Amino acid sequence: MIPSREECLSLMNRHGMLENIVSHSLEVAKVALFISVELKKKGQKIDLGLVEAASLLHDLTKTECLKTKDDHARTGCQVLKEMGYERVGDVVAQHIWLGEGGDPSCISEEEIVNYADKRVMHDQIVSLGERFNDLKARYGMNQKAMDYLERLQKEIYGIENKIFLILQIDPNALQQLL
Ligand SMILES: [Fe+2]
Repeated sequence: MIPSREECLSLMNRHGMLENIVSHSLEVAKVALFISVELKKKGQKIDLGLVEAASLLHDLTKTECLKTKDDHARTGCQVLKEMGYERVGDVVAQHIWLGEGGDPSCISEEEIVNYADKRVMHDQIVSLGERFNDLKARYGMNQKAMDYLERLQKEIYGIENKIFLILQIDPNALQQLL
């Protein structure tokens, strides 16, 4: 079961998400859908409804987690699964860190949403380099935090290569294409 765009928007509204997190999510959905449509043209099997719902809902519980300090990928997944949105929950669970064992020859909805989130800083499309410079400036307060961000950055560059090798477009052309 996958909620429609309208259902996602009303769920976001009911969850009291901060305005800037809603704007960010709308932009992530735009990037993720564009990448998905292009990947489908290249023969990849992608569930567009799943990508759209998971992109819109990936930060559903982030607003409350700013106070509780909970992991919003985990709590977001939990809330969605409780509502019966099993696959959307799976994708949301992996929007910060991807689970092990991605298939090297095909791109998953998890990888697309994870990657799209890393290309949107607030509500602007930026390069991975810009996004990580901002994350390091905001969250890299000590060596442990910096190491964490470095590992995350390494993982996502691998995903970028995998996606754009198939698309045959320059990752930095995304800003102009959307
Ligand atoms: Fe998030």
